[in-house]
Amino acid sequence: MITKPVILCVDDEPLNLLVLEGVLVPKGYDVIPAAGGRKALEIIEGQKVDIVLLDVMMPEMNGFEVCKNIKNNERLRNIPVVLITALTSKEDRIKGIEAGAEDFISKPFDFGEILARITMLLKVKGLNENLINAYSNIASLTSYGEEVIKTFRPEKFNFIEKIGSIVNKIIRQTGDKDKPRQIIVGMRDEGDSFQWHRYEFVTRELNRTLLNVDLQQSLNLPEEGDSLIVYLNEADLAKAEYSAVTQKLASNGLNVSTMVCYLSDFFCVLALNYDRDVTAYDASLLNNLVMQTLFLRSLSLQIKEVEDAFGYTVHALARAAEANDEDTGNHIVRVGEYCGVIARNLNMPDKHVQAITVQAQMHDVGKIHIPPQILKKPGQLTPEEWEEMKKHTLYGARILGNHARFAMAKSIALSHHERWDGGGYPHGLKGEQIPIEGRMLNIADQYDALRNMRVYKPAFDHQKTCRILMEGDGRSMPHHFDPRILRAFKETAAQFEELYEKLRG
Ligand code: C2E
Ligand code: SIN
Ligand code: SIN
Ligand code: FE
Repeated sequence: MITKPVILCVDDEPLNLLVLEGVLVPKGYDVIPAAGGRKALEIIEGQKVDIVLLDVMMPEMNGFEVCKNIKNNERLRNIPVVLITALTSKEDRIKGIEAGAEDFISKPFDFGEILARITMLLKVKGLNENLINAYSNIASLTSYGEEVIKTFRPEKFNFIEKIGSIVNKIIRQTGDKDKPRQIIVGMRDEGDSFQWHRYEFVTRELNRTLLNVDLQQSLNLPEEGDSLIVYLNEADLAKAEYSAVTQKLASNGLNVSTMVCYLSDFFCVLALNYDRDVTAYDASLLNNLVMQTLFLRSLSLQIKEVEDAFGYTVHALARAAEANDEDTGNHIVRVGEYCGVIARNLNMPDKHVQAITVQAQMHDVGKIHIPPQILKKPGQLTPEEWEEMKKHTLYGARILGNHARFAMAKSIALSHHERWDGGGYPHGLKGEQIPIEGRMLNIADQYDALRNMRVYKPAFDHQKTCRILMEGDGRSMPHHFDPRILRAFKETAAQFEELYEKLRG
């Protein structure tokens, strides 16, 4: 439904108003008559007016003043004003231009001229509005884009949620004009068929409902990897190629008069019923938002994949280092998880919790350089063997090298046998000199080593292990641990036991 242009006719002479009405109404315009300037300003403030035909000579407030009033008002100044002047008054025209009038018509009326000018001015006004609209859309798109990039978290990116926010951005809400009333989003599901959802604003809420309809066949989707953007007005929609779609939508209670769609082989967006003609501009706006979202989705999938591969590689490397060790089963995975538990207990940021959980697995990669006869020796080590054994920390740091992504792993490998009291190795660091991740790992590692059987020791149960760590057995003593981390261990010991049971090899 396209609304009629509204013309405000202002004249103190009722007959003139009747004449204008008689000419304009049959041509499809809505005419609002006003008998004077004040009345005219009152009307134009209160309702939509597309053009003003304004008599100059009026008693209480003349046309120039009314015109100035309109042109001084930020909100109204884009409404074209046509002054009705006496036949050839040059002075009036100059004054009219000064007052900001767009055009003039002279009395007595030449109706052909009036209609031609109105058509022209409405066209200019329409283009002007499009331009203003486009500027504001671009500004809003840009700030939305900035916001999206600033808040983009590849690991948390949720495509469906993002689509919701895009729909929210482009759909008509209470008070909006020019925007589509309904948006339909289709997505290919695992079963390879499309699920269609209908979005619409209903009483201030964005409503999303499942559409029980199969549009996939009717839409003629492009080949895989391609996409298509189309805008369709009433005449286009009447064509045979779209009848299947419009009929299916109509049978779901959706009569479509205009439509802009983005189509691809796995994702479609149909924006329906703008209540005005749609243009290439609407199409490019939709395309832009969809592209932005698809780009972020693909970026997020790729980053997740790389992250996944990184985790996998870390784990594979840690496993490879175990080849010569006694059978430690899931030791590396459990130690990573315990560290995650401690990190969470210490309220470390999520990212840090994730990083330590993954990278802690590599704490013993250096053991790959320890001769198997030392590593697998059933009894006590000789002092020489023990000196060699301690070097697994240095070897590990050397293997992990200097890449930023391995900085934490390296620091862990190097420092996981340091002790709070300075009695550890390889460097005898003390207290806060020891990196916090090394301090965390130290207790996690010992918990797990105590729970397991080693060639040189039997397995201990949870209670006995806790007793050794919290009360000491000579070899391990409470003052070996950072007191904050020992407290964190005490608070989370139950989770250690659970994890041990869950992840025992
Ligand atoms: P691991 O067997 O994984 O042990 C890791 C850490 O757990 C040890 O670091 C130690 O702090 C703690 N731990 C292990 N078993 C016991 C225990 O029975 N009592 C107490 N209180 N703590 C225990 P540490 O001592 O620096 O040893 C590092 C690595 O050196 C060990 O890793 C293991 O691979 C090797 N190792 C240590 N002692 C012996 C041993 O007597 N014989 C052999 N063959 N290897 C040993
Ligand atoms: C390293 O490569 O950073 C470990 C050498 C050391 O600190 O002793
Ligand atoms: C392990 O048994 O793999 C960990 C031993 C260590 O802390 O060096
Ligand atoms: Fe170690």
